[in-house]
Amino acid sequence: MKLTFLGHAAVLIESKESRIFIDPFVTDNPSCPLKIDEIPAPTHILVTHGHGDHLGDSVELSKRFGSLVVANFEIATYLSTKNVEKIHAMHIGGKTTFEFGSVKMVPAVHGSGIVDGDTVKCGGTPCGFLLETEGKKIYHAGDTGLTVEMQLLRSEKIDLAFLPIGGNYVMDVDDAVRAVEMIKPAKVVPMHYGTWPVIEANPEEFKERIETLGVECIIMKPGDTLEL
Ligand code: NI
Ligand code: MN
Repeated sequence: MKLTFLGHAAVLIESKESRIFIDPFVTDNPSCPLKIDEIPAPTHILVTHGHGDHLGDSVELSKRFGSLVVANFEIATYLSTKNVEKIHAMHIGGKTTFEFGSVKMVPAVHGSGIVDGDTVKCGGTPCGFLLETEGKKIYHAGDTGLTVEMQLLRSEKIDLAFLPIGGNYVMDVDDAVRAVEMIKPAKVVPMHYGTWPVIEANPEEFKERIETLGVECIIMKPGDTLEL
């Protein structure tokens, strides 16, 4: 399968049957190299939490392409009020099978409020996603602080993990290294840094530190792709 990093936490996963877009933050994403009109039609959109830099263009893309949006119950309910038609609600700990394989919603420690006009709506609890497709396991952590729940991911034998390192709202490099020690994935792609000055971080330092743990680090620039 082919994975494309579109900046911040936006990841496109193209497998045989499906094109999965996780946290489709395109329009207001200063680090996304594509315009909304250049995004290839996703079959599935996965949303980790309700913040604008993750919910992103979910409504627009789903309406345009008929993409199925997978999100927690509260975000799913919010999306139905925005006339999104194809929605699959699930929740923390739950696992579901789609055309491409399975998706498990795993814990993240963060917020999930949805800014809608001048109000903040309840977006339930934030999550990460554990995907299994074409025999590979991919973990997208969403926005999260370091949490002991990550220990549970070790036995999943994750092939590739997308982990936030930018600090302030999420784990910084120090905590992301501790997360890697707990999860022990084969490969890690750092994300959620450098989009704005408040989340500046040094991915080279992160790479150096986790590679001493025997974990491969792939620093992807926005627009980069990798084969898994
Ligand atoms: Ni967030
Ligand atoms: Mn975020």
